[in-house]
Amino acid sequence: MASDETSDDWYDDDSLWVDFAPAMFSGTRAETVAELVRTAPLLDFPPGSRVLDLCCGPGLFLVPLAARGYRVTGVDLSPAMLERAEAACRAADAGPADVTLVREDMLTYTAPDAYDVILNVFTSFGYFEDADDNFQVLRNAWQSLAPGGRLLVDVMGKEVLAGWIGRPQAVDLPDGSYVVQRDTVLDSWRRLRTDWTLVRGESARTASIRSFLYSAAELHDLFVAAGFADVECFGDFDGGPYDQSSRRLIVRGVKK
Ligand SMILES: C[S@@+](CC[C@H](N)C(=O)[O-])C[C@H]1O[C@@H](n2cnc3c(N)ncnc32)[C@H](O)[C@@H]1O
Repeated sequence: MASDETSDDWYDDDSLWVDFAPAMFSGTRAETVAELVRTAPLLDFPPGSRVLDLCCGPGLFLVPLAARGYRVTGVDLSPAMLERAEAACRAADAGPADVTLVREDMLTYTAPDAYDVILNVFTSFGYFEDADDNFQVLRNAWQSLAPGGRLLVDVMGKEVLAGWIGRPQAVDLPDGSYVVQRDTVLDSWRRLRTDWTLVRGESARTASIRSFLYSAAELHDLFVAAGFADVECFGDFDGGPYDQSSRRLIVRGVKK
């Protein structure tokens, strides 16, 4: 929620994003993202395109997108993430392109015809308990795109997840702490709960993330129902197919 009301929604917890930021938004990932934005065919738009990074987090995509010459807006619900995004933009020599940061909830945010491209990346979709609310995010994006504009949603596809789910994962962090991630399938594969445990010295911090899971066909059909045309599924930002070797599911649709 974008107001100062308190919320029980897991995603509206600043401390979760802050505490687990070293694992989610590591320096290594920032470097990978910067290279991706410089080179990826699916992120190649006409110069000056108005690009919205919906759920921008600390801005890993914002700075390289601005450096590529796009007019960039970042929307996020977390004040702490927006502060980090602002600091990242200030620190970077992103060139003449604008970066605008807005605190809004993706459930309600619309800016009619304001963007040529909307990105929603690194599994920032499917957070709402009610399936209709997640669909509303696609409708909002459709409204916010100018005619000809496109939406790209990047998630962990259900098919990809099925290939390795069940094996807990541990990630070592540079300060000696580590994060253990454990997934539990809910509601007959409709949703997923990921339990994170951050172990730092003698203390442990836990958090649970719950989100909808989508197969390529399911997300494709939601795009179509939301009004998008030319809907395609990819397995990577290089534009490769979504198949048995994919690690991500990227769905792209156009507002005609
Ligand atoms: C997994 S992070 C991804 C951040 C970024 N896209 C990246 O690639 O690093 C998800 C982000 O979504 C934001 N978020 C969660 N719920 C949101 C909502 N309802 N509206 C807007 N942003 C939200 C969080 O604050 C967090 O920054």
